Amino acid sequence: MPDEQAPGALDTLVAQVLASPKYHAVSPSLTRRVGAIELAKAASLKEAVKATKNRLHQVAGAYLESPRYDAWLTELRMAFAEGEPAARLALRRVMRRHASTRERLPILDEFYARTLAGLGLFHRVVDLACGLNPLAIPWLPLAEGADYLACDIYSDLATFLNSAFALPGPFSAIYAHAETRDILSDPPDTSNADLVLLLKTIPCLEQVDRDAGARLLAAIHAPRILVSYPLRTLGGRVVGMERHYDESFHALLARVGGSRWRITPHAFATELAYLIER
Ligand SMILES: C[S@@+](CC[C@H](N)C(=O)[O-])C[C@H]1O[C@@H](n2cnc3c(N)ncnc32)[C@H](O)[C@@H]1O
Repeated sequence: MPDEQAPGALDTLVAQVLASPKYHAVSPSLTRRVGAIELAKAASLKEAVKATKNRLHQVAGAYLESPRYDAWLTELRMAFAEGEPAARLALRRVMRRHASTRERLPILDEFYARTLAGLGLFHRVVDLACGLNPLAIPWLPLAEGADYLACDIYSDLATFLNSAFALPGPFSAIYAHAETRDILSDPPDTSNADLVLLLKTIPCLEQVDRDAGARLLAAIHAPRILVSYPLRTLGGRVVGMERHYDESFHALLARVGGSRWRITPHAFATELAYLIER
């Protein structure tokens, strides 16, 4: 797109994408990264804007359609006031609103119980590309006073999560915080974490940058990383994904020199998880 590649075209593209209601809260850094790739390929600025929105939809928008954060917060506030069983039911109801987090609900009671069995309580957890998974904190083995840092690319999602964490209820015994962050460009500091969650995210990141999974895994400094892959497509079809992702995970490990790491696989009905210990 020679003419519109002029300086300023990328700024215009980013401004146009962020002006649309569906993408107004997306990290400008990720919008810029995707926009630069699409500008280089497209025949016009208009086409590049459309392609950028499509790509952002694939990596994020498709999972979180029409969030109703205010209503969800009210629902959580009322349920938390009723005590633990009602709180857990309400958390499950809200987690249904993110397609990827929703797929974990049928296996949630066993997911962390199995993958983290025998490891005691964690003190500092980082949840990368979190979606609504931080609402599953009550299912995680966390020490009292533990830190939990969650990040995803939506600023309104981070605001919602921080408001939920501040409600009296199941998050009160820990320090949880959510932030807007493009983990492709700017992964958070994980050097003090005793557990990093990278759940069903590597395939998403690799749609933008083929090396993203390897770069991210190499940049994570934590003794334990729980990595997972989806076992069905967003449309719900199961298409031999277990074998495909098992092969790509092992290829990824080979690329980052992880052959000596201890790997424990856990296959669930909807998700394939690997605990990496090093
Ligand atoms: C498949 S979902 C997984 C959500 C969550 N980890 C879970 O398993 O419930 C992928 C998530 O990655 C987020 N995401 C995509 N690209 C990202 C990026 N560059 N930085 C941070 N988050 C990103 C999306 O918004 C989406 O919530």
